[in-house]
Amino acid sequence: MAFALPVLPLRPPATAPSVERTSPRSVRISVTDRCDMACVYCRPSMLDGYLPAEDRLDVDAWATLVEGLVQAGVRRVRITGGEPLLFRGLLDVVRRVRALGVDDLALTTNASRLDALARPLRDAGLQRITVSLDSLDAERFARITRGGDLDTVLRGVEAAVNAGFDEVKTNTVVLRGENEHELDALVDWAWARGITPRFIEVMGVGEGGRIWRDRLVPAAEMRDRLAHRLVDGAGERDPDRGPSKYLSARDGSARRVGFITGSTDTYCAGCDRLRATSDGVLRPCLSTNDGVSVADELRAGADAATVRARLDEAWALKPDGSWRGCTEETARRVNMRATGG
Ligand code: GTP
Ligand code: 5AD
Repeated sequence: MAFALPVLPLRPPATAPSVERTSPRSVRISVTDRCDMACVYCRPSMLDGYLPAEDRLDVDAWATLVEGLVQAGVRRVRITGGEPLLFRGLLDVVRRVRALGVDDLALTTNASRLDALARPLRDAGLQRITVSLDSLDAERFARITRGGDLDTVLRGVEAAVNAGFDEVKTNTVVLRGENEHELDALVDWAWARGITPRFIEVMGVGEGGRIWRDRLVPAAEMRDRLAHRLVDGAGERDPDRGPSKYLSARDGSARRVGFITGSTDTYCAGCDRLRATSDGVLRPCLSTNDGVSVADELRAGADAATVRARLDEAWALKPDGSWRGCTEETARRVNMRATGG
C-alpha cells in the first residue's frame, strides 16, 4: 500500500471550554527522572550531559503526596519516570499507594528490569502495566532507544504476562521512515500474548519538538495500515482511562488496538489529569512547565493537608479550553524525563 505524505493539521482544533475542572481524578507520578534508555523522541543522549534532579522525593514523601491527592479526589494513579524501575523504593511506593485504596494503580516502563521485578510488583499490588516497545527488530530498537537491548525487554514483557496483571499493554511511538512498517507485526506479536498494542503519534514535547514535524505518522494513516484487521472508525475511549482510542478486531474477538493522537488532536477537553514530577512539582498539564512545588514542605515533614492546599494552587494553573495540547510552543520546553510520558 502506498501512502502520500499527509497534509498535517499542525494546529488541532481548540477544545470546547466545557471542562470540569474542580479537581483532578487521575495522577501520573514520575518517581525518577533517571532512565537507562535515551529514546530519540524523549530525551538527549547520555553524552549530552543531562544531570538528573538532585531533589528526588523519597518513599515517605511520595506516600504523603499521593495521600493528599487521594483526599482531594484522585482515584487513579500511574507510576512513570524516567524509568520507574530504577527507583529503589518502587515496591514500597506501590504498597503504600495501594493501601490508600485507589481504584486503579498502573505503571509505565521500558521493561529493561521487568524480568526480575514483574512478580514482586504484582505481589505488591500493582494492577496494570504498560511497556514501551517501539520495534521488534533488535537493530532498530537499539537505534530508537539509543542502546536498548530488545531481548532483555522481551523477557521483561514475558515476565509481566506470566505475573498475571489485570492488563498488559504496549506503547509504540510510530516514527516516519523508522518503524511505520512494523504495525502489523507488532499487533500479531501482542495479540498472540494477550497484550493490547497501542500506537502513539510522536508529540512535540521536549526532545520530540525537534523531530515531530518530520517524523509524525498521523493515527488516521496508522488505522489505514491496519484496516484489513480492525473495524472501521476512529475508535472509542475507555471510561476512566487515558486518551487512547480503541478499535476492535474485525474477527469479532475481544482483541483491540489503541491509538493515541497527541499531535493531530488534543485531549484537553475534560482532562482530569495531574502530574507529579520526580522533583516534587505538581503539574496540571503535560504541555507546560507550570506547576507548584511541594518538595520543600514534604522534606520538612508536611502532611497530606498541605499537599491538598498546594494541589488547589496547581490545579488553578490548568490551561483553559482554548489550549491545543502538545502542539503549544510551551510543550517544547518540557523535560519529558522529569515529567513522565
Ligand atoms: P491508560 O490508558 O489509562 O491505561 O493509561 P496509559 O498511561 O497507558 O495511557 P495514557 O493514555 O495515560 O498515556 C499513554 C501515552 O499517551 C503517554 O505515554 C503519552 O504519550 C500520551 N499521553 C498521556 N497523557 C497525555 C496528555 O495529557 N496529553 C497528551 N497529548 N498525550 C498524553
Ligand atoms: N511523543 C509521544 N510519546 C512520547 N513518550 C515519550 N516521549 C514522547 C513523545 N515525544 C511516551 C512513550 C512512552 C511513554 C513513557 O512516553 O510512549 O511509552
